[in-house]
Amino acid sequence: MTAAGVTPTDDVRTVCVMVGSLRKAAFTGRLARSLAPLAPSDMRIELLPSVGLLPHFNQDVLDEGVPQVVGDLRDSITAADGLLIVTPEYNWSIPGALKNALDWLSRLKPQPLADKPVMILSSSPGLLGGARVHPPVRNILHSMDARILARPEVQISGIAQKLTPEGDGIADAATAEFVAARLAAFGEFARR
Ligand SMILES: Cc1cc2nc3c(=O)[nH]c(=O)nc-3n(C[C@H](O)[C@H](O)[C@H](O)COP(=O)(O)O)c2cc1C
Repeated sequence: MTAAGVTPTDDVRTVCVMVGSLRKAAFTGRLARSLAPLAPSDMRIELLPSVGLLPHFNQDVLDEGVPQVVGDLRDSITAADGLLIVTPEYNWSIPGALKNALDWLSRLKPQPLADKPVMILSSSPGLLGGARVHPPVRNILHSMDARILARPEVQISGIAQKLTPEGDGIADAATAEFVAARLAAFGEFARR
């Protein structure tokens, strides 16, 4: 059983999704919620709880025991076959709440991202699609021994115009096709 109570079969891979933004109407949250219909039939997409639920990392807190919310996050990631990180860039780098979540995970033993297949997807209302968040996130993931599907990077520019105006979906056909292809590639990568 996974943390979500789903029993995986040999055929279905569970991929969990971590979102780097905390705000309710986040484009990255909407993008994350639009992934399931684009995923291959043998991939189950599971959204993780907001990284905003985690306390700030503090070794003193960890010394008293792994907080429940951190342990739950660890269990969901451990049970999954892969992790997608869907995030904006903040000031050309990684949003603090996402960094905080990765810092927590990095201090756990066993460390849940070691050997875990991971793909980063970024978006921005601007022209660069959050391109500059990839190197810092990748660098942190390397330090944690994650297996990263690096290329081609998913960087969605002009995200406001590419999502459906209502509900969660990708309206732009080329973007939807590209994301679907990357999810399929990630499924293959996670199997290797
Ligand atoms: C603290 C902060 C820093 C930002 N820095 C960048 C940046 O470096 N590059 C960029 O394209 N957009 C930047 N933005 C704008 C975000 O891309 C935009 O607010 C976006 O909607 C945030 O993602 P979300 O919709 O998923 O919350 C920044 C926004 C905030 C709040």
